[in-house]
Amino acid sequence: MGPDVTGAPIIFKTAVRRQDGAEGVQEEHMSGLQGRIALVTGASQGIGRACALALAADGATVALAARNEAKLAEVQADIEAAGGTAAVFALDVANEASIKTGAKAVLERFGKVEILVNNAGITRDGLVLRMKRADWDDVLATNLTGAFLLTQALLAAMLKNRWGRIINISSVVGRTGQAGQMNYAATKAGLIGMTRSLAREVASRGVTVNAVAPGYVETPMTAVLNEAQTAAMMATIPLGRAGTDVDIAHAVTYLASEGAGYVTGHVLDVNGGMFMGG
Ligand SMILES: NC(=O)c1ccc[n+]([C@@H]2O[C@H](COP(=O)([O-])OP(=O)(O)OC[C@H]3O[C@@H](n4cnc5c(N)ncnc54)[C@H](O)[C@@H]3O)[C@@H](O)[C@H]2O)c1
Repeated sequence: MGPDVTGAPIIFKTAVRRQDGAEGVQEEHMSGLQGRIALVTGASQGIGRACALALAADGATVALAARNEAKLAEVQADIEAAGGTAAVFALDVANEASIKTGAKAVLERFGKVEILVNNAGITRDGLVLRMKRADWDDVLATNLTGAFLLTQALLAAMLKNRWGRIINISSVVGRTGQAGQMNYAATKAGLIGMTRSLAREVASRGVTVNAVAPGYVETPMTAVLNEAQTAAMMATIPLGRAGTDVDIAHAVTYLASEGAGYVTGHVLDVNGGMFMGG
């Protein structure tokens, strides 16, 4: 059973017989993440927002990080309305000073981050001969260097705690490549290398590091694609539908869960079958 990201927390109801012989029902919130502190970058919309809602529904307290505090406040309100707990932190992952300040603020508030979802990402597409240096640099800074710097800023507390989950949001194109996305695909492949290297580095301290590689997911990021591009994409998906942000959130909550404790250095494809490579 997955988290109910649309509303109330999931509750297990178990029939019990009390000591006095009376029969009753014991209610248990589906948790696994109860009391855990999570941080999601790019939590203001799309996949990051869905991950934040799902982690909160599973019981985690979620630090919502992105540049737009007003939009994050709306996500916080949605989480709180569903009975969860969240806090807003302004953080620009393309800016080292902002990452340091943001990470410090989160650690001062919660003392640790146990689940880090490096989700913030941008595209600046273009054929390579026309790709501007700034388009390369911006995508690298946001998608790859930002994930490195934020991980570095939060890792010591995670190692000290001897329990951690780092989940990097990669992409199917990091595995397959994509014409017009050399910068973006390089960062998504880079995240996979980062995931596996860090997984080896921190395994002995109870910290797992995994990546989720979404395929084509309907979010504001892909809303810019025209009809022909969307149709071409859809034709490559055996399951015959676009992915949803919730599809990706399910993968993230699994990797964050206690039950995924023996999974590390893995890239979880969530793509409707559009790529089935190893
Ligand atoms: N939508 C897809 O089909 C798809 C497929 C594969 C991978 N992904 C990846 O999933 C992640 C989320 O994508 P999405 O589709 O939800 O995109 P989106 O554009 O809807 O959301 C991106 C989020 O990242 C945030 N962000 C961007 N730059 C930032 C910065 N400098 N500092 C802080 N936050 C920043 C945005 O504010 C937003 O909250 C990205 O890493 C993306 O590459 C998406």
